[in-house]
Amino acid sequence: MAFWNKKTPVEDFSGRVRHIAFIMDGNGRWAKRRSLPRKAGHARGAETFRRVIQYCHRLGIRTVTVYAFSTENWSRPQDEVAAIMQLLDRFMEEELQDADTRDMRVVFLGDKAALTPAQRERAEEIERRTRDKSYCLNIALNYGGRDELVHAANILLAQGKGSVTAADISSALYTAHSPDPDLIIRTGGDYRISNFLLWQSAYAEYYFTKTLWPDLSEREIYRALKDFCSRHRRFGGLDPEDMKEKE
Ligand code: FPP
Repeated sequence: MAFWNKKTPVEDFSGRVRHIAFIMDGNGRWAKRRSLPRKAGHARGAETFRRVIQYCHRLGIRTVTVYAFSTENWSRPQDEVAAIMQLLDRFMEEELQDADTRDMRVVFLGDKAALTPAQRERAEEIERRTRDKSYCLNIALNYGGRDELVHAANILLAQGKGSVTAADISSALYTAHSPDPDLIIRTGGDYRISNFLLWQSAYAEYYFTKTLWPDLSEREIYRALKDFCSRHRRFGGLDPEDMKEKE
C-alpha cells in the first residue's frame, strides 16, 4: 500500500524533535481482520517500518527507536517468533548491503545473548560499520525496560561504584548514545508502556492511536508531530509567566 504521494506533508522538525520512538502494535489484528495468518501482519508491519524510517529521516529527526521484539515476545508460538526473526534477518542483510551508502547508524537495544550466533555477528557488524553516521535507528530487539535497568545496575556494580548518579545510569543503558525520546507513538489502541524505555521516557510525550501499525500513514505521523509541537513541556517546572506570579 503506497501512502507516499506529492501531498504527503514534509517539514523540517530537526530543531524541535530530536528523538521519536514507536511501539509497533497491531500487526496480528491487521492480519486477523483479513483472515490472514499473523505472520502476514508482521510482514506488512516490516514494510510500514521501512516507510516510517524513511519518512522520519526526511523530516530531519535524528534518532528513531522502534520496539521490534520484547523480552516477553519469546512466549509467542514458535512459528510466529520464527517469522519475526526472519523479517529481522532480512532487514540485517539489507542493512549490511547498504551500510556504507546510507547515513544511518543502526544500534540494537537489548541482550544479544538470546540471538543466534549468526544474528549476533551480523548485528555487531552492522553496529560497527555504521558507528559514525549522523542519523540513528535504534532497534529494540530482545529488549525490556526492566531488563535494561538491571543490566545497567550490574555494569555500574562491576565498575566498583558505591553510589550512582542519574547520569551514571543513563550512560549504562543500551541507549547511552541517544538523547531521551521526545515523543513516543503507540499504535494499536492500547494505553500502556509495555516495558519500553522506562527510564528514558520520564519526560516523553505520548501519542496513542487506534490505527494498527501496518496502517500507520506518514500523514498521521505528521499530525502526531504537529500535536507534539503544540504541547507545553514543563519537565516538572512552571511556565515563566507562572513563575512571576509566585514572586
Ligand atoms: C506487535 O503487534 C508487534 C510485534 C511483536 C512485532 C513487531 C515486528 C515488526 C513490525 C516487523 C519486524 C521489524 C523489523 C524491524 C524488520 P502484535 O503482534 O502484538 O499485534 P496484535 O496486538 O494485533 O496481536
